[in-house]
Amino acid sequence: MNLAKKAAAEAACRHIKSGMVVGLGTGSTTEFAIRRIAERVKRGLKISAVPTSKATEKLALSLGIPLVDYNEFLESGKQADIDIDGADCVDPLFRLIKGRGGAHTREKKIAVASKRFYCIVDTTKLVEELIGSVPIPVEVEPNRWEEVADSLLRFGRAELREKRGKVFITDNSNYILDLSPNADVGEPERLEVDINRVPGVVDNGLFTKRLPDILFVGHPDGSVRVLKNE
Ligand code: 5RP
Repeated sequence: MNLAKKAAAEAACRHIKSGMVVGLGTGSTTEFAIRRIAERVKRGLKISAVPTSKATEKLALSLGIPLVDYNEFLESGKQADIDIDGADCVDPLFRLIKGRGGAHTREKKIAVASKRFYCIVDTTKLVEELIGSVPIPVEVEPNRWEEVADSLLRFGRAELREKRGKVFITDNSNYILDLSPNADVGEPERLEVDINRVPGVVDNGLFTKRLPDILFVGHPDGSVRVLKNE
């Protein structure tokens, strides 16, 4: 699937022009975009980029992409011109689940603070039904994760995320609960709001309000389908 991811990423990057502020998502598909942007920066492209995670920041810095600090960018109240980011799944209405990399809180903030949000995926990410396709990542305050997991039981079973035998810690120093929703949980729009109403929840990985403006779907043969959300 690497050819598909790379093709989708590079197609989205063609929209980047000098003078732009670019949001940089997180994950293996976005990594192809970051590498492509870095090549263009070396050839004279003048942009600044806002990273959505420490991993993205580290990679972009190592490749010489000029960065704006994530917090300073949000505090400035300015908008990025384009945000480029991946997804764990996307449905026919352009609704997403994100956060397999645990960065969805920052990713959502940057997507909201961008004039255009371009989502880059390969064909394996396309689903008919969003709910039930993959667990929904829920970022939670560490000292409240057990009470949040209990409160989330009305939506489904939530499991504390671990990585290499240790509790996974986000860039915001929080935990992640991966929620496997019940089949009768209802519409994703409502669920996104209801999960975030639980005290102790920071944000969840459903993206039903800030939808991508364009979806770039990479295929295994390297072709790309460009779907506009109009
Ligand atoms: C990270 C994300 C990623 O965009 C999502 O997990 C997709 O990653 P990949 O491109 O590696 O499949 O939401 O929080």
